[in-house]
Amino acid sequence: SLPDIEPSRLQITRTTDPKQLPPSSSLLFGRTFTDHMLRIPWSGLTGWGAPSIEPYSTINLTPSATVLHYAQSLFEGLKAYRHTDGTVTMFRPDMNMKRMNNSAQRLALPAFNGEALIEMIKKLVSIDREWIPKEPGHSLYIRPTMIGTNGALGVQPPTEALLFVICSPVGPYYPRGFKPVPLYGTTEYIRAAPGGTGAFKLAANYAPGVVAQKSAAKAGYVQNLWLHGPEHYLTEVGTMNLFVALKGEDGVAELVTPPLDGMILPGVTRDSVLALARNHVSGAKKLPGLPDKLKISERPITMGEVIQANNAGRLIELFGTGTAAVVTPVDKIGYQGGDVHIPTGEDGMGPISKPLWTELVGIQTGTIQSDWNVVV
Ligand code: COI
Repeated sequence: SLPDIEPSRLQITRTTDPKQLPPSSSLLFGRTFTDHMLRIPWSGLTGWGAPSIEPYSTINLTPSATVLHYAQSLFEGLKAYRHTDGTVTMFRPDMNMKRMNNSAQRLALPAFNGEALIEMIKKLVSIDREWIPKEPGHSLYIRPTMIGTNGALGVQPPTEALLFVICSPVGPYYPRGFKPVPLYGTTEYIRAAPGGTGAFKLAANYAPGVVAQKSAAKAGYVQNLWLHGPEHYLTEVGTMNLFVALKGEDGVAELVTPPLDGMILPGVTRDSVLALARNHVSGAKKLPGLPDKLKISERPITMGEVIQANNAGRLIELFGTGTAAVVTPVDKIGYQGGDVHIPTGEDGMGPISKPLWTELVGIQTGTIQSDWNVVV
């Protein structure tokens, strides 16, 4: 078999022209990049080539590169955090490697050894570790990407590819505390469909969402709530997974998120929220503030059910989860010409999301010990 990613072949070229670190307060999400990047080329004839860490710079592509014509491109997003004792950790990078390999398979791009890539990313992050902001709530957003690079206008599997990783220092998504967002219940556009690519992190899933987001913004909403099918199943929020907390008719609180049925992106934050909630219920790790009796469901949920629960005073809250923003509370859904008002907590976060968010962020920033953290 052809060579996989081989960490011992890593070549490092350090920049001779280090950039000025920007003040953390001026950081906008994904606009500033660190001094270095990782590149690993692949060819169908020779497999994965030598990894290199080099100064952040432009990529040369032939205008006939498959990525430019048929969107042979996939990406990941994960964060590295600097703890108060100086330790730097990445949050659950194994999950991103697994998903990246699944995305690659979906696009007929090459598979790779995820552990080897984690090792290379650790090296990159440690070379650029001064770029990780020290302020609380800040982190380094890591963006692994893979593209088809060979020139070919025939629609076919790429014969050459480039895997690269860039890093961006980011501040808290909500610098002034949690501000719940209004969503537009979108039925004119779809994000994903059965048999489609919604469960993979492909660049092509995101480009068509921009016009939908613009049109939601024009109507006074912040993001799309992607509704599926004539039943108006809730699926995702913008680029995030979705959770609904509601009381059943028996009065028991239930935390619902749509199942991984092929249309839902298997989010790392989604998985982590479910795991924390399940550990709370099983007693493995109780989370202060979370109801003792809590049902956790990966099941379909329709707008009809949400509205019915809301009208009966049984809707507790609705929130999005993602790596970039972690948790995003929702206060309103524009739906069929009217607005559905969603309960939110006093400080913007509801009684279910708050304890889960507190635990999750505690782990990520190192105040709570967890084997989800991988030391760089
Ligand atoms: C998220 O973390 O919510 C994302 O999907 C990343 C986004 C910038 C595409």
